Amino acid sequence: MRIGVLTGGGDCPGLNAVIRAIVRKAERTYRDEVIGFDDGWLGVIEDRWMRLDIERVRGILPRGGTMLGTSRVQPFGVPNGVERVRQTLADNGIDAIISVGGEGTLAATAELFDCGLPVVGVPKTIDNDIEGTDLTFGFVTAVEVATEAIDRLHTTAESHNRVMVVEVMGRHTGHIATWAGIAGGAALTLVPEEPFDIDAVCRAIVRRHESGRYATIVVVAEGARPVEGTLDIGTDERDQFGHVKLGGIANIVAAEIGRRTGIDTKVTILGHVQRGGTPSAFDRVLCSWLGVAAVDAVHDGAFGMMMSLRGGLIARVPLADIKGKVRVVDPVLLDAAKVFFA
Ligand code: F6P
Repeated sequence: MRIGVLTGGGDCPGLNAVIRAIVRKAERTYRDEVIGFDDGWLGVIEDRWMRLDIERVRGILPRGGTMLGTSRVQPFGVPNGVERVRQTLADNGIDAIISVGGEGTLAATAELFDCGLPVVGVPKTIDNDIEGTDLTFGFVTAVEVATEAIDRLHTTAESHNRVMVVEVMGRHTGHIATWAGIAGGAALTLVPEEPFDIDAVCRAIVRRHESGRYATIVVVAEGARPVEGTLDIGTDERDQFGHVKLGGIANIVAAEIGRRTGIDTKVTILGHVQRGGTPSAFDRVLCSWLGVAAVDAVHDGAFGMMMSLRGGLIARVPLADIKGKVRVVDPVLLDAAKVFFA
């Protein structure tokens, strides 16, 4: 067979590990030929790709980013996009495409399957918000990065009696914030799942500092929002793909805490540091397993399926079942996190 692979959407630690696993499994087990498309679906639309073999993917397992490049361009957003994808497959004798991506890339993959194209999905995002899988790769690495940052902020916060507001990624959900908040011993964690009350936040901080504890770490997910009408956070500016431009809620929260409590409050926005660099050992294993499973799925003709981690095993989940859904943090975990709040 001739299998194409692409990586779409925001990058994520572990993409290269998936590519490597696909190439090794395809070549070793099935004697397949693998080609890698440049820049996600854009490379398929524009017929840009490179031949991948075991030699070419040597050494990429621990490297962050993606050797193929990525973009948020989807075939349905481009004139004749679907026809161009079909043409590229026909021109190059490609039997199947393995699409590694987040919500946008997988939604496009599901629609292409509906158009009759032979596609298989592999979910990725550090945000961990994709339905149908227990975890997405990249998430655990991002939590490690955020936790290390929080650990470091503790000691400097304690030395200066400060409040530290740490912003982590999490566009629609607070998976990273909740996990890193618990792991890092944060006093408060603000997540998109539960609008926050800045009044209650400030009261908790004042109480905490009055009781003799003199440092406070507040973790805030970039997509966290205040209870409506309680705090002005400006307008929602959007990028060319219609995504709200996030990043900066920590500045608003910190300014408000400082103003209302009089306590010196600093901001750290972790941003893309969470997405770059080497994947954790867990993510490397998960990526390797997902890549191997995706090639088997192609050979079984299991098109329209996404490879998922479910109950400790890799399962196949219909892409149609997860389209348009967002997996939020389980309320039970959100409640458990509150046990450790200020
Ligand atoms: O979806 C993953 C993510 O890292 C979000 O948490 C974040 O809002 C977004 O990507 C940032 O995307 P970009 O790199 O395009 O700014």
